[in-house]
Amino acid sequence: MEIETATLDFIKTIQSLNTIVEIDAEKSKFLGKNGILTKEFKKLSVLNTEEKVMFGKKLNTIKNQVEEVINNQIKLVKKLELDKKLKEENVDITLPINKEFGSLHILSNEIRRIKNEYKAKGFLILDGPEVETEFFNFDALNIPKYHPARQSQDTFYIEDFDETLLRTQTSCVQIRAMQEKQLPLRMISIGKTYRNDQLDATHSPMFHQIEGLVVDNNPINIGNLKDELSKFVAFVFEVDSVLLRFRPSFFPFTEPSMEVDCCYSKENGNIKINKNGDKWLELGGAGMVHPNVFRACGITTEPYGFAFGFGLERLVMLKYGINDIRSLYDTDIRLLRHYKSILIN
Ligand code: DAH
Repeated sequence: MEIETATLDFIKTIQSLNTIVEIDAEKSKFLGKNGILTKEFKKLSVLNTEEKVMFGKKLNTIKNQVEEVINNQIKLVKKLELDKKLKEENVDITLPINKEFGSLHILSNEIRRIKNEYKAKGFLILDGPEVETEFFNFDALNIPKYHPARQSQDTFYIEDFDETLLRTQTSCVQIRAMQEKQLPLRMISIGKTYRNDQLDATHSPMFHQIEGLVVDNNPINIGNLKDELSKFVAFVFEVDSVLLRFRPSFFPFTEPSMEVDCCYSKENGNIKINKNGDKWLELGGAGMVHPNVFRACGITTEPYGFAFGFGLERLVMLKYGINDIRSLYDTDIRLLRHYKSILIN
């Protein structure tokens, strides 16, 4: 067959194909190693120079023409395939939508509430690293080397790194703050803390603490601490006012130190924060900052200060009547659904 006729046939065939695979197969029959046109090119070697120029020109023209046809057909096939796909994947915008929207977890919600409130009150909202050194977690907080809290049953140490651990308390942020910031200083820090505890209804190896610190070169006393704490507890429980009780206690970083209790009553089995209640809830620890802590931070002006620390989970559990800490972490979406309607966004 003449090459011209073969070319016309080939072009017709290509233009009738509608898949890339078929086009590729057909292409190799014409342009491949043993393809019709390739064989024609091989004939050039036996021709004389003049014939070679003429026939060569002709073959190249055919080659260009054929390649153009192939490329156009590929483009066309791709476009048709895309159109088909778009048609098939057409989204039916008239279908009813899932109207359920997400919500904040009650722990996240409480963290945001407290941070917003204290930011508005002029406190610094600070974060610190969860992987800490013994200096910030213990030494600077006046917790001596032999203190039982340092023993490995409480603290997760980081293997292969000397004196490095997962912080057991957010009190270490106090130290970082006092080293970095000027006095007077008012700060709140909320974050994750870790202790080597078995997970049960009231313990978790990871939990959150809220740390507060107020330091000033002007006198601050326990009355100021009690006032600030009363406001804090009332804010968390969303009540107008609370009655607090301080019980003497011991924390190495405060002197004097106390446990903070809040007056409540039980109504239908539920806790009600109530100034006229007949029971006391244990909420957290507090005290006046120990002079050794100021010294460890390089503060020599002998200022006054108070600090407090609360477990966030405990506050949230009391607030919402949750009695198993695990339900705060087990990602059961029913918890989110249940509390969604009462949370701010
Ligand atoms: N860091 C203490 C703890 O984990 C809580 C605490 C108590 C923090 C008294 C304070 C404080 O700032 O003054 O048990």
